[in-house]
Amino acid sequence: MSLFSVDSGAVAARREQFSRSGFLVLSGLLPTPLRERVMREVDHWVDDGLRARSIAACVGPEPAQAPPVLELELPAHGELLTHQPLLEVVEGLLGAPFVFHHLHSDRHGPGTAGKPWHHDYEPNDSGDRGLHMVHALHYISGLDGTVGNLTLLPGSHHEPRGKSALAHLGTARQPGEIVVDSLPPGSTVLINSALLHARRPVPGTGEPGSARYFVDASYCQTGARWRPVKPYWRHMLARARDLGLGGGRWPELFAERHFTEYARSA
Ligand SMILES: [Fe+2]
Repeated sequence: MSLFSVDSGAVAARREQFSRSGFLVLSGLLPTPLRERVMREVDHWVDDGLRARSIAACVGPEPAQAPPVLELELPAHGELLTHQPLLEVVEGLLGAPFVFHHLHSDRHGPGTAGKPWHHDYEPNDSGDRGLHMVHALHYISGLDGTVGNLTLLPGSHHEPRGKSALAHLGTARQPGEIVVDSLPPGSTVLINSALLHARRPVPGTGEPGSARYFVDASYCQTGARWRPVKPYWRHMLARARDLGLGGGRWPELFAERHFTEYARSA
């Protein structure tokens, strides 16, 4: 049994808390061997230009060519995306089935810029905001207050607004915010994707050479078709199915029918 497995009463309490606040901290969710392998893959992803090619495929002319390597094709990233204790928590929050939306992988250094207040909720074709999307924010090397802090505004997911409606505030402090600046390696913060959050820089405190390994993965409730964020989303889902990610336990996790066609944001 996973450390994060809980009985049905605790699942209900966790769901109620998540529904109210919009976030859940899963401290030390990832076992050391997995997080160490993910870190090596992130180095490869960033240092060998794979991340840059992945971004270029999303912003270049259409029709887009899929990049030569996807995040989920890196073996430890594929395992992270389908890490069973994580998906069991997601199942407890969203119910089953649910569908994978996308995965991003990056490495932040002491000089990495902040990210203004925003949310990451994508629309679905029913316009049904009652259907939830969650982001698993994986702090592979933890958080120690030296390379940007995660800042959250609990309860903000209840109020409809555009993704960047509060971007003019930058990363300025907001009443009621929570700052997450200390997490052990291999920790995950699961958020309702509509929750306002920011990455607040910590100027001048980063140790030379220190880095924050950061992977985020998102998942959606089924029941409507979601807007994909990568033009090569069909290829991405097909590769996940080809690789057998999740071992067949989550039959809808990589199903195309839960998505609309890709359309570049205006
Ligand atoms: Fe975000």
